[in-house]
Amino acid sequence: MEIILQPDAAAAALLVARVIAREIRRKPNLVLGLATGRTMEAVYAHLARLHRAEGVSFAACRTFNLDEYIGLPPEHPASYRQYMNRHLFSKVDIDLKNTHLPDGTAPDLQAECLRYERWIVECGGIDLQLLGIGRAGHIGFNEPMSALRSRTRDKTLMRSTLEQNAAMFGGEPDQVPHRAITMGVGTILESRRCLLLATGQEKADIIAKALEGPITSRVTASALQLHPHCTVVVDHAAAAHLEEVEYYRWIFESEPEWHNFKEN
Ligand code: F6R
Repeated sequence: MEIILQPDAAAAALLVARVIAREIRRKPNLVLGLATGRTMEAVYAHLARLHRAEGVSFAACRTFNLDEYIGLPPEHPASYRQYMNRHLFSKVDIDLKNTHLPDGTAPDLQAECLRYERWIVECGGIDLQLLGIGRAGHIGFNEPMSALRSRTRDKTLMRSTLEQNAAMFGGEPDQVPHRAITMGVGTILESRRCLLLATGQEKADIIAKALEGPITSRVTASALQLHPHCTVVVDHAAAAHLEEVEYYRWIFESEPEWHNFKEN
C-alpha cells in the first residue's frame, strides 16, 4: 500500500482524477470500478473537465459501480445510477451501455449478485477500482464484520451509514433504504489496482485504523493492506492521526510514478 499526502481536499481529488485519466490514456478500454458519495463529486468534476479540456475519452471504457440501494428504481433521484448520470456519465463520452450498477430492484437479488460478479469476469476484471471510505471504515457497503473474502451480495446498512447518506433523502436517515447490493471485499481485492480517496477531519480516525491498524473485518478498508497495488490519497485533515507521515511524504517525493504529479 502506498499513501499519498496532499495539502487539501481539492488537491487530493485532482490527483486521483489525474491518475484515472492517465490510466485511461494508457488503456482506452479500461475497466473502471466506480464509487459514489460526496468525496467523489470533485473527482468526477475534474474528469469531466479533463474530458472537455484535454480530450480524455471514456468511449471505450467499461464501468462497474460498487453498490446500489435495494428497492430504489434506477430513475429515482437518490439512486446511485442517477448520481453517476449526474456527476459523470452525462458529462463525458461514455456509452451508457458500458456502465453497470447492480440492479437493486431485481426480483431475485442473489441471482442479480451472481450476474454482476459474472459480468465483471466477462469484461476481464476491474483494472482500476476507485474507493471512498465510510466513517465506520466500509469500502463499498461492506459494513463492519463483512467477511474479508465476501462477494457481491445484499447487505444491511448500519445506522451511521444511513445518517451519513441521509442528505439525498430529505435529511431523514429512516428514509434511506436499509439495504444495498455491494461488491464484496473479496471482489474489490481482485481488482488490479485500488485507488482510495479520503478527505476531511471526520475521516482521520478511521483512516488511521484502516491504514496503520490491524487487518480486521471490523474495519473492512483495512483489508486493502492485503492488496498488491493499492494507492491511498489523503488530504492533511484525513491524515491527521497517521503516524508514518514523514515516510508517506517521502514516497510522493521519491517514487517515479508521482514525478509528473508534483505541480498539484
Ligand atoms: C459509495 C461507497 C461508499 C462511500 C463512502 C464515503 O458508492 O462505496 O463506500 O465511498 O461511504 O462516502 P462519502 O464520500 O460521502 O463520505
